[in-house]
Amino acid sequence: IAPNVHCLSTVDWILRDFHGYQTEKGSTYNSFLVKGEKTVLFDTTKASFTKEYLEGLKKVIEPSAIDFIVVNHAEMDHSGALPEVIKVVQPEKLYCTANAQKTLCAHFDCEGWPFEIVKEGDTLDLGGKTIEFVGSPMLHWPESMVSYIKEDKVLISNDIFGQHLATNERFDDLVEPGELYFQAAKYYANIFYPVSAGMRKFLAKLEKKEIKPSLLACDHGLLWRKDADKIMNRYIDWSEHKNIAKAVIVYDTMWESTAHMARTIADGLGSDGISVRVFDLRYNNRSDIITEILEARAVIIGSSVLNKNILPKMADFLTYMNGLSPQNKLAAAFGSYGWQDTIVKQLNGMLEEMKFELVDDGISSNYVPDGDALDRCFALGEKIRDKIRGA
Ligand code: FEO
Repeated sequence: IAPNVHCLSTVDWILRDFHGYQTEKGSTYNSFLVKGEKTVLFDTTKASFTKEYLEGLKKVIEPSAIDFIVVNHAEMDHSGALPEVIKVVQPEKLYCTANAQKTLCAHFDCEGWPFEIVKEGDTLDLGGKTIEFVGSPMLHWPESMVSYIKEDKVLISNDIFGQHLATNERFDDLVEPGELYFQAAKYYANIFYPVSAGMRKFLAKLEKKEIKPSLLACDHGLLWRKDADKIMNRYIDWSEHKNIAKAVIVYDTMWESTAHMARTIADGLGSDGISVRVFDLRYNNRSDIITEILEARAVIIGSSVLNKNILPKMADFLTYMNGLSPQNKLAAAFGSYGWQDTIVKQLNGMLEEMKFELVDDGISSNYVPDGDALDRCFALGEKIRDKIRGA
């Protein structure tokens, strides 16, 4: 990927779930080999791919010729193969943060591993290649760091800028950009959303250090050589919770009444240039909906009442969204009930807990919405539209 810098990718064509995040296009686990006078390996792969990873590694280098290993991230999709790789490579030193040492030793029997703890800004001179270590704590684990190859302007960026997208291509300019950017946004929304403040600080730190990578070598998916600046700017926008004129309506429904309300709110909202997306939780995965919410200004949620409560798929979705902590959102609630008119109050409470700004008290309908209830839904859509426009 650069002179004497190799990317070793395990392509996981069949991965479909990453702890609740639907990975419909699979993923890759990228590790990197950098050769100066000394040679260093950055991270490894998932345990189940250890054998083929070592076979691939041997095609590039005799493992015993590797001098050092760097662990940027201890999560098991990158460290699972580490115990076996250490046995084969027998590195002189294993560079990582103090937190990473603790984390690795909480996962594996690390007795005898040659840890060398690095701190913010430390450098490793390989002879012809200089590596600068830059802390990225809580992005997205406490022990995380990234590694910058100064001579090549390559940032080995850990999970940051990744996408769960299995391909044989390795660079951003070799694939269709719509899919690439959707998967990059999906990755941000489902992994980094809750640590956006830390992400913004990290990006500012790179700027302060005058680290301007020409290649972002991330741990998942395609490496960014054409659009490195562009994806970094997108990360700035996402970490600052910037929104566009867009509303996302999410609902679950028992006998289609709440669904009818959702479509009517969408009609009111989308009548004048606002982008509207409607998701029925019976047919859409939580992780795709969060991706749509990432840049949306408004989130409107609806559920029928089931046994004095919201429907289970909505409970699932709200729990997931709450954990990801979207910010800077307008919101409203709606739903149909039979004999207990509790749904809007319950949903409003959850939206307030997430610090969303309620635009309206919300709309409930007894059983099947009549003309009046649908008029109120349409008017709610118009009200949210006006609020998005700042009217
Ligand atoms: Fe790709 Fe956080 O591991």
